[in-house]
Amino acid sequence: MTSKRHILVTSALPYANGPIHLGHLVEYIQTDIWARFQRLRGNDCYYVCADDAHGTPIMLRARLDGISPETLIEATRKEHEADFADFEIGFNNYYTTHSDENREFASSIYLKLRDAGHIATRTIKQAYDPKANMFLPDRFIKGTCPKCGATDQYGDNCEVCGATYDPTELINPVSVVSGATPIEKDSQQYFFKLSDFTDMLKQWLDAGHVQTETAHKLNEWFEEGLQDWDISRNAPYWGFEIPDAPGKYFYVWLDAPMGYMASFKNLCARSDIHFDDYWAADSKYELYHFIGKDIARFHTLFWPAVLEGAGYRKPTAVFCHGFLTVNGQKMSKSRGTFIRARTYLDNLNPEYLRYYYAAKLAAGVDDIDLNLDDFMQRVNADLVGKVVNIASRCAGFINKKFANQLADQLPEPDLYQDMVNVGEQIADYFEHREYNKAVREIMAQADKANVYIDNQKPWALAKQPDTEAEVQQVCTQGLNMFRLLMTYLKPILPVTAERAEAFLNTRLSWADLSQPLLDQPINKFKPLLTRIEKNQIEAMTHDAAETTGNREPTEKTTAQTKTGSRTLTTEPVAEEISFDDFAKIDLRIARIVKAEPVEGADRLLQLTLDIGSETRHVFAGIKSAYKAEDLQGKLTVMVANLAPRKMRFGVSEGMVLAAGSGGNDLFILHPDDGATAGMKVK
Ligand code: 2FM
Ligand code: ZN
Repeated sequence: MTSKRHILVTSALPYANGPIHLGHLVEYIQTDIWARFQRLRGNDCYYVCADDAHGTPIMLRARLDGISPETLIEATRKEHEADFADFEIGFNNYYTTHSDENREFASSIYLKLRDAGHIATRTIKQAYDPKANMFLPDRFIKGTCPKCGATDQYGDNCEVCGATYDPTELINPVSVVSGATPIEKDSQQYFFKLSDFTDMLKQWLDAGHVQTETAHKLNEWFEEGLQDWDISRNAPYWGFEIPDAPGKYFYVWLDAPMGYMASFKNLCARSDIHFDDYWAADSKYELYHFIGKDIARFHTLFWPAVLEGAGYRKPTAVFCHGFLTVNGQKMSKSRGTFIRARTYLDNLNPEYLRYYYAAKLAAGVDDIDLNLDDFMQRVNADLVGKVVNIASRCAGFINKKFANQLADQLPEPDLYQDMVNVGEQIADYFEHREYNKAVREIMAQADKANVYIDNQKPWALAKQPDTEAEVQQVCTQGLNMFRLLMTYLKPILPVTAERAEAFLNTRLSWADLSQPLLDQPINKFKPLLTRIEKNQIEAMTHDAAETTGNREPTEKTTAQTKTGSRTLTTEPVAEEISFDDFAKIDLRIARIVKAEPVEGADRLLQLTLDIGSETRHVFAGIKSAYKAEDLQGKLTVMVANLAPRKMRFGVSEGMVLAAGSGGNDLFILHPDDGATAGMKVK
């Protein structure tokens, strides 16, 4: 028996100014499966996370909404927590970087770094918005690319030609905040001397703490030479003030990873876990960070160096994953594939997505694709058609013919044992984050179990005389194989596994696998999962198309943006269409004759629209912004020649156009200034 491991895992902290979407969930599902797997194997595994609550985008978002940053981050945190809980992400603690614990870590770590000589100050020129009276981060300046002439490019890189440059090189720069032309202004900044840690980082890298792909990237950075890192920002800034520098704030990326420690510290304060066991320089416990490949630099250079400089342990490993595409392309609102966690949850069971991501996830940094047709087919074929089917083919006989009692022996103990033996290979796949291989193996075993039942035909046996004992044994064999499969799937499907536990009257644990369930009662079988219907997917993409994404710029360094844009805090403009394509869209003024809530749909209103020549019924995701009774008689703009779509609640015969950032900031109404229903919009 190997000794119990002590493990702490984290996922990247989502920014507190936007909703969780399916791109984010790749990481949380990946980490959660790993943490649940470790616990199922009998290890201690704590999983902590938090909202990343600081930085310019959050400050400006709050200003725009006319609320304090505190109110914004509190409200966002509640939404994030609800989304994660509903996706069964089993954090041991979910916190915020705007906490006392984190302020304490930011200050004390900074002071340790300063006292050890790792902080330098320098006066540098920075872009300044003379109208908004603030220094501008690179992504808050836009202008024409100095290399290729593309307009409307960010201050750090060009999305058209890929060039990276300094914001001062942009042609015709403007501040995204006020529209003013930025000026250059001197200011004193605080730098972390990363190059002090070059040797340590090289050794750390050689010791195998990162994946091969990340190691290659790191080597490139070493070759370029490690630059000092600017860890300060000027007021106004939303974050923690630097202790010995009034008016200067820690850059959000300094205190964000400290949020891992702060969240864990907060967990320790209300349990008997000891912080130092996990974070002291000589800790023997394991620490893993799961992150997206775009933020590798922060986690594999700055973060280990900061930890080392302040006398803490470094991560055991940093695991990077790729981005998500949907139907082979970047997520896109116009295609209905920029899907928020909540939009998904309104339409589909979270375990389907957990399963599909697991079936696709490997240990490397390759992107994964959510193909919605394949998603439906795979979930239906594997989970409903293979796994749950085993239980439903065997349960009825045990429930009805044998008063719920399992047989006292297995007819094919070797078949059972083979399936137990494969468990070690499956465990190895989970351990190394090769979930796709684990799933493939589990499904191969499910096929075997189904072949066994096909061959034994309990339904035929049950009709013959004197085969009572045989029927009971065959079904007991089938249910025990189902139990093995559900144990292997438990990290991926925690809720279905719990239902299987209730049905089998047992607790699914890896340690008990070799002992089959014999001569004991089970409970009545209830269907564990239902098939995905096409109209559920259609309803989700329809809802997604009607829900606006988060359009805030994000805080990134120049080097970061080189690696590509992240899924997708800021949605890129959709692919270009010709004028002829555009001209095909028939936009009409419509009068809302009737508006009513839709039973069972949180965000939908059903609108009856008069477009002069005819009446249309449309489902619109605008309930967060409008009361049904306020809409009656008003005018809106609709796409009148969109093919009707079958949704969960009925057929939608068009789409209304909305502007705004979502929630109650959504506008669909056209002022009633002489327009009449049916008029074409030009
Ligand atoms: O890229 C992001 O979304 C950041 N909010 C991740 C922070 S991870 C950690 F370092 F805090
Ligand atoms: Zn360019």
